[in-house]
Amino acid sequence: MHFRTVPLIAFMFLFLCCATFGFAADVSKKSGAALQGLALIKGEEVYMQVCAVCHAAGVAGAPKVGDKDAWSPHIKLGFDHLVDSAIHGKGAMPPRGGQAGLSDDDVRSAVKYMVEKSK
Ligand code: HEC
Repeated sequence: MHFRTVPLIAFMFLFLCCATFGFAADVSKKSGAALQGLALIKGEEVYMQVCAVCHAAGVAGAPKVGDKDAWSPHIKLGFDHLVDSAIHGKGAMPPRGGQAGLSDDDVRSAVKYMVEKSK
């Protein structure tokens, strides 16, 4: 009896190990996706608080968020160029939409959000 339970315990141990590793891999995959989602949520927040003033209605010639035709010539310039314009200002747009307290990452998330909504 005692000798028969040993392989069984070994088998269960192996099974638990595999199950745990599988679970850990799954969780890390999920948290990666959640992190990306988080950047978009952060971007939406910055957009709503700072950028929407101009970009929701197209004030002063700002490309309206959601307007694919207005955005396509901007999107062609490349994502990094757009982030750069938003950080340093362009035409009637002040640097960082006028909020000097925004970090480069905040601005980048907001641009990402706006572009995602407009292509
Ligand atoms: C005061 C109004 C105003 C605010 C606030 C504003 N923008 Fe703009 N934005 C503009 C205008 C006007 C343009 C068009 C500039 C041009 O093409 O001359 C523009 C253009 C852009 C572009 C295209 C740049 C390019 O190189 O083609 C991006 C990206 C952008 N804005 C992002 C943002 C982000 C992100 C925020 C918030 C952090 C923001 N804007 C806040 C007015 C604004």
